[in-house]
Amino acid sequence: MLTDPHYACYPNFVRLLDGVVRTVPLRAADGFQPRSADFERAVGAETSAVMVNSPANPTGAVLDDETLSEIVGVAERADANVVSDEVYHALSDGGTEHTVLEHTDEAFVLDGFSKRFGMTGWRLGWVVAPPGHVDAVDRLAQNALISAPNFVQDAGVAALETDGEWSADVRDTYRERRDRLLDAVSEWGLDPGYTPDGAYYLLADVSDLPGSTVDVADLFLEEAGVAVTPGVGFGDRAAEYVRLSYATDEDALDEAATKLGRLLETVRD
Ligand SMILES: Cc1ncc(COP(=O)(O)O)c(C=O)c1O
Repeated sequence: MLTDPHYACYPNFVRLLDGVVRTVPLRAADGFQPRSADFERAVGAETSAVMVNSPANPTGAVLDDETLSEIVGVAERADANVVSDEVYHALSDGGTEHTVLEHTDEAFVLDGFSKRFGMTGWRLGWVVAPPGHVDAVDRLAQNALISAPNFVQDAGVAALETDGEWSADVRDTYRERRDRLLDAVSEWGLDPGYTPDGAYYLLADVSDLPGSTVDVADLFLEEAGVAVTPGVGFGDRAAEYVRLSYATDEDALDEAATKLGRLLETVRD
């Protein structure tokens, strides 16, 4: 069971295992926060896993702790595993994110170095597995991954040793960039009606522009030189949005804002 919108790869992992995806809708009016009642309604005897992701890609929403605990309860009553993708932890406004492990030991937690340490591409991450599943995860890792390269492991150790010194700065930087981008998005008339609290993404509502979300992303790239991700890959509920990333620096964001602003004026003329 996944939320919709969700990280684009999740349904493909489920399909790879011959599973069937069931989705729980998220709404912009709720700031894309899941409602535990929707999970309650959607679980059934056939549900084997319930997946949560906070801070979330593509919405930037941060799950509040009470809802997280309720979702864990729903999964437990349905005898389903909880899988929590916490790869954007440490990247939230005010550090408000909670780990699922505060509520249960019977959860799979996915995490990694690529987001909080800016180590995308280094391919280093980890999984915390329930004790009864560690042997199986070990066999999977040995056969599918063998191991992380040792120099990358050394980089991971170095990254962990620096944690804490700079994470507050990183948070402040992302908050400033988010606010800058939110202003720009509302000036473009693409306001999504919510404020993301974490990760470094936000959805912009492009439903008033001509064509599909893929057409809009192509237009932005071809005519303004600005890359955004079409929402459709993140689920039906994201089909009227494009995802913007503010992982890049302020100058690049300002340049993109100016170029897109100009383009949108000509499109609407
Ligand atoms: C929600 C989420 N999970 C996992 C990943 C994978 O991260 P990586 O492969 O860089 O460790 C990403 C990357 O964008 C993501 O957005």
